[in-house]
Amino acid sequence: MDSESALLSGFEPYVASVEDLATAALRSSSISRSEQIDFDLLDGQAAVRLRDTTALDTRRSRGAFFSSTRLRSFALAEEPSSGGSCIATLDPAVGAGDLLIEVARRMPVSHDLVQTLQQWGLLLHGRDLEPEFVRLTKARLVMLAVSRGATENGDVSTDLGQFFPQIRVGDGLELLDSGWVGGHVVMNPPFTYHLADEGTSWTSGRTNLAATFLAAFCQNARPGTKLTAILPDVIRTGSRYARLRSLACEQIHISSVEPFGRFDDWADVDVFVLRGMARAPQPNTSEVKWWPGRPGRTLGDRFDVHVGPVVPHRDIEYGPKHPYLDARSVPLGGEFDSSDADLGGFQRRLFRPPFVLVRRTSRPGDKSRGVGTVVVGSQDVLVENHLIVLKPKDGLIHTCRRAAELLGSRYAKAWLDERIRCRHLTVRALRELRWFDS
Ligand SMILES: C[S@@+](CC[C@H](N)C(=O)[O-])C[C@H]1O[C@@H](n2cnc3c(N)ncnc32)[C@H](O)[C@@H]1O
Repeated sequence: MDSESALLSGFEPYVASVEDLATAALRSSSISRSEQIDFDLLDGQAAVRLRDTTALDTRRSRGAFFSSTRLRSFALAEEPSSGGSCIATLDPAVGAGDLLIEVARRMPVSHDLVQTLQQWGLLLHGRDLEPEFVRLTKARLVMLAVSRGATENGDVSTDLGQFFPQIRVGDGLELLDSGWVGGHVVMNPPFTYHLADEGTSWTSGRTNLAATFLAAFCQNARPGTKLTAILPDVIRTGSRYARLRSLACEQIHISSVEPFGRFDDWADVDVFVLRGMARAPQPNTSEVKWWPGRPGRTLGDRFDVHVGPVVPHRDIEYGPKHPYLDARSVPLGGEFDSSDADLGGFQRRLFRPPFVLVRRTSRPGDKSRGVGTVVVGSQDVLVENHLIVLKPKDGLIHTCRRAAELLGSRYAKAWLDERIRCRHLTVRALRELRWFDS
């Protein structure tokens, strides 16, 4: 633990400075709000200091990315704006406390600092593996109370360590697994990857830790416990997490699934907010809209959709030569005659033109996202796995051209951007794209 903690040593002086402010407030009988509070302290400063003092690799390895004010208020927008949050609330991966700060903004406050902190301390629960983050969370909560008007202090003998006994260093997953008893779980868990335990019912192998936090809530939360979770978009849209989504539908009454967009200017990952309430398990009736609906006929009704099978750094060339199409050789959009392609000798499934190719790698908002290239020619061809092949069921080039037109439309771009916020397109998402006449 010591050498691990040392990795945050550059950040520690900042934590100590915020603790000094909190301690000074606790030692004064009358606190001046303007003298004490630098408002950045409650709004983004911790994230800036962490970025300035701690290497990106270290932050990534811990999943230490704090919610911005915009994101945390978006996540908790449905909570009553004041006086409503009088239920015990846990953040199992508390970081610098940004979500709990948003919760505490809505809690009752009195002029008396110690009294306010004691009341908040009964309700606010948190865990983090990093002691510095836990210390900072507590100190920031003290400063929040001051900023909200708790500027008198009837007991100047108290010290910081006495407050927030339920915000502690520890493993939040363990706490969720043990069935934490309380009213509301708020979380923006780490988005790092880990290997799922053997025998996990909804996943295996490399799994996003945020998914494991969500599953721990689903499987262990007492009925009636609310959930507000900021999660990476791959959980909303990735085929890999379909079983987790089903588990969530069985165990949670899901009230909303709301895409937010990019986490912030520094963490290039799209997130969404899941809100709901744990309940006794019920069959998954699939009423939850994880992505926009798809009435009518779809592209998948007219095309067989496959990922290109050739993985060039893995497959060995020892077979007969065929035109070989990869993301570098095929132009974006328009029509391409496969007889102009270089040859490859991979022993993989061949595709007979006409068909449409779409690049798998793309990010939401990219102009090239989903753009289709119609491939013509008379020979069977090999396709690399950065490309998706759309093979018309009716075998007609006309149908391919219609698909390319559809894929190039503003409608398709907007739909794909909402359906899949990850950096690649999936076969399933393309199949679900609504066809013109439906
Ligand atoms: C994405 S940050 C979120 C912090 C905070 N909830 C927010 O929204 O700003 C995730 C935090 O989880 C912590 N963490 C990672 N694994 C954890 C675990 N098993 N138990 C508790 N905290 C953990 C990291 O140290 C990091 O502070």
